[in-house]
Amino acid sequence: MLFDAIGDGKDILNKKDIQDFLAECKGNIRPEAIDEIEAKAEGTCLDLELFRKWLVLATKFDSQRNSKMAKYYGKLGEQSGAIHQEPKSWNESTMAQNLRRMQYAVRGQVVMKAETLMAEGKDIIFTNIGNPHSVGQKPITFYRQVLALCDLPTEYGVDHPDCEKMFPLDVIERAREINGAIGGSGTGAYTGSQGVLKFRQDIAAFIEARDGHPCLPGNIFMTNGASSGIQAILTGLIADMNDAVMIPIPQYPIYSALIALLGGRQVGYELDEGKGWSVSKEALKAQLDKAESEGLRVKALAMINPGNPTGQVLSEEDVFTVCKFCCENGIVLLSDEVYQRNVYAPGKEFHSAKKVAMDRESELRNLQLVSFHSTSKGLIGECGRRGGYMELYNIDTFVQSQIYKLASAGLCSGVNGQIMTSLMVKPPAEGGESFDLFTKEESEIMDSMKRKAKMLVKGLNEIEGIDCEDAEGAMYAFPRIQIPQKAIDVARKKKQSPDTLYAISLLEETGLCVVPASGFGQAEGRIGFRTTFLPPDDVMENAVQDFKRHHELFCEKYA
Ligand SMILES: Cc1ncc(COP(=O)(O)O)c(C=O)c1O
Repeated sequence: MLFDAIGDGKDILNKKDIQDFLAECKGNIRPEAIDEIEAKAEGTCLDLELFRKWLVLATKFDSQRNSKMAKYYGKLGEQSGAIHQEPKSWNESTMAQNLRRMQYAVRGQVVMKAETLMAEGKDIIFTNIGNPHSVGQKPITFYRQVLALCDLPTEYGVDHPDCEKMFPLDVIERAREINGAIGGSGTGAYTGSQGVLKFRQDIAAFIEARDGHPCLPGNIFMTNGASSGIQAILTGLIADMNDAVMIPIPQYPIYSALIALLGGRQVGYELDEGKGWSVSKEALKAQLDKAESEGLRVKALAMINPGNPTGQVLSEEDVFTVCKFCCENGIVLLSDEVYQRNVYAPGKEFHSAKKVAMDRESELRNLQLVSFHSTSKGLIGECGRRGGYMELYNIDTFVQSQIYKLASAGLCSGVNGQIMTSLMVKPPAEGGESFDLFTKEESEIMDSMKRKAKMLVKGLNEIEGIDCEDAEGAMYAFPRIQIPQKAIDVARKKKQSPDTLYAISLLEETGLCVVPASGFGQAEGRIGFRTTFLPPDDVMENAVQDFKRHHELFCEKYA
């Protein structure tokens, strides 16, 4: 093996070393780079330094973004005089290569371009990311009032003589309850590594009420958004480069990014666009068999429900199919349920994997499950608060103790995020002073999301050359587009995906910033983009007109 060869102090590589290496890397290297290195190694030996340089080039998947950022920091360093010109020992080829290769499309090339245009004074509408407050959604009053009172020193907050004049009684009571749960040290101190016990008890009660089955606070880990929970679990799962995680195609790119970062392999299972982005037993099995035939060990499978970027809400039967598949194949199910409250389609309902697992326990006895939830989505949208939790269900106790160890190494999740999560799972009670306003604010957000989801999909489907499945849930529409072959050829020449060419053109023409669909993965030959429907109604209505105007212009330009 190549690494053994290097470990033996060898600085020349022969063709066999390289072939073994390429066989181990499988899909992680660009096909054209494989041809190049094989040609170079033909009949001769390669110098290790040359090989290293080739490897960096061969795995430059996000080169435009990487080099742009490097230039930016270079300029910054020059201005401050804090960076000297001498070569650095920690550089592009010696750094952690997994990090260099990692890609994250939601904040990728198109967004960078949008930020540049905005700095130049152009109006940009950021529909690239599910970040509701950034596009005008108002925070829910009750949450902010409790958070403020928890943060204020008691003499300026809950114990201030005028407190009751400024805050509703149930807010004050809740802030006192939270202060008590955290302990005398307040919001500025570390908490226990899994999160404050009282908050975890409230989360367990929320899950029990939702699913009708028991939940133990000891199995809850509070996290910085769902993201840090997903990262912790993947860190515990991926042991080496043959360990694989099945992810939906299309997927939310935190999965592909973290799998790359941790040096594992992703195995995509395609969702069926023609059938409302549903998942089939056959597609799962085919991908598992293929992965195993390539020597991969599939350890986990991510299911996103409601879906991002696809917006589908899985039926109970679909959730059961995935649970059963995981159970039968000894695969840990990672159930990403951050959009569980974002269900808009009439007749559709969210089914948690935990509920399905426990309702049908006799058939799913050995299901190992981790479910994720977050305060960033739903009707709350407090993305910057970084609140969330994960529930471990039927996970090996030794493994769970190691996940606890990992949480301990990070000390604890942010305390404001923990408070936010406790409020999410225990909203104001009926009869309390805040209840009416809270209910009004929540239903306004829900009605607005429902309305915009419908209006956007309808508007997109009215454009010739654009087709979009219903946004049944989540915060996104994920249309596919037809564009002229000439545009596809131009994109290839620019070494861009056709949908990146399209998204940049859309941005320049209209100021709408969407994410090219290729950033999420999609069926071969499909072209599309993802847009949120979070900006206000009038902005979304104009956006639909702009999508139409741009599509016609684009098709005309490349006709
Ligand atoms: C499916 C899905 N999972 C997880 C996350 C992570 O969100 P957060 O870390 O803010 O909870 C997102 C964010 O958009 C998401 O769409």
